[in-house]
Amino acid sequence: MAPITLPKEMKSLLQPSRQSTEVVIVTVPVPTPSHPEDVLVRVHATAPCAGELRWAIDFPDAVPASKVLVPCQDLAGTVVTAPAGSGFATGDRVYCRVSAERAGAARDYALPRVSELAKIPAGLSWIDAAATPLSALTAWQALFVQGTLDAAGIKGDAKARQRNSNIRVLVTGAAGGVGSWVVQLAALAGAKAVVAVCSGDKEAAARELGATEVVNYRQTSIEEWVAGDASARECDLIIDLLGGKTLTGCWAAVRAGGALVSINTPPEMVKPAGLDKELAKSLFFIVEPLGSNLAEIGELIDAGRARPTVDSVWEFADFEKAFERLESGHAKGKIVIKVSDEA
Ligand SMILES: NC(=O)c1ccc[n+]([C@@H]2O[C@H](COP(=O)([O-])OP(=O)(O)OC[C@H]3O[C@@H](n4cnc5c(N)ncnc54)[C@H](OP(=O)(O)O)[C@@H]3O)[C@@H](O)[C@H]2O)c1
Repeated sequence: MAPITLPKEMKSLLQPSRQSTEVVIVTVPVPTPSHPEDVLVRVHATAPCAGELRWAIDFPDAVPASKVLVPCQDLAGTVVTAPAGSGFATGDRVYCRVSAERAGAARDYALPRVSELAKIPAGLSWIDAAATPLSALTAWQALFVQGTLDAAGIKGDAKARQRNSNIRVLVTGAAGGVGSWVVQLAALAGAKAVVAVCSGDKEAAARELGATEVVNYRQTSIEEWVAGDASARECDLIIDLLGGKTLTGCWAAVRAGGALVSINTPPEMVKPAGLDKELAKSLFFIVEPLGSNLAEIGELIDAGRARPTVDSVWEFADFEKAFERLESGHAKGKIVIKVSDEA
């Protein structure tokens, strides 16, 4: 493919201060690869993550002072230049989660690394591709790396499916970006049950993705639901996305000896006082931006077995409305921001 001619300058979102969540549009030079793994990508669409504008305030150790605060770590775009032997070439359609330690993708050109990238499955639009990386990677790692389901079950491995068929999975925030992937992947892996905790108007969507039971948290707390028939309803693996009272409720629903995985808060921090329940695992983790996991997820998308859920799509200039919608906490899937006219 012919080399892509680069402009000198580009548009970018930027948080001018680490102490503020303010975001502005700026014009800046196109970045230049400086790390041996850097891939220069022309971004077509990107997606923000809930709470990300507060990372430098709330988790200063996780956001290096050297980070230029360009938000939105997910991208879908076209490779401009890639290191020789990287497996990527000019013109490839790629997507990824850029590590939160480096500048994000709400800009015309970004610099993901080789280890973060995967090729976009044929037929997946720029919008759907940008909606996928963070949510799908987090769900994959929560269930199969940190949790107790065996990913081999997805590909039909009989022993893995046998093991998974004994595991009841429950996920909170089941209708959002990460939750919609947890539901799909747990169902594909052959879990015994997939319990989706979400609001009632999202029940149909959750069931369509593979939920076998739905708890409408607006009507019933997790504690009340499990108390209704504890021996049948307790779950072996709980994936919590929300922390707080919801995670406290998960302690009631997890079976003794089971696993409680949160992407929001270390579960022990909100364990009900006096509760005498030992678990095999209770942990909080932060997603690893691995292109290798994304490639496995891409195979499922390619085969029509899984799909991203998009809540809404926003023009670049309307980024503030996109963040408002995201921070409402009630999105049904991912919020996506168009970066190029091709998206
Ligand atoms: N640790 C990590 O590596 C990692 C990775 C990715 C994301 N995260 C974090 O995980 C969280 C979820 O991310 P996301 O992208 O999935 O968010 P999201 O798309 O905004 O989804 C949140 C969902 O939670 C639901 N919800 C709100 N209150 C609820 C409750 N009490 N019980 C059950 N569901 C409730 C909302 O829908 P309703 O309309 O049904 O309320 C919404 O669908 C965010 O805080 C994000 O920052 C962490």
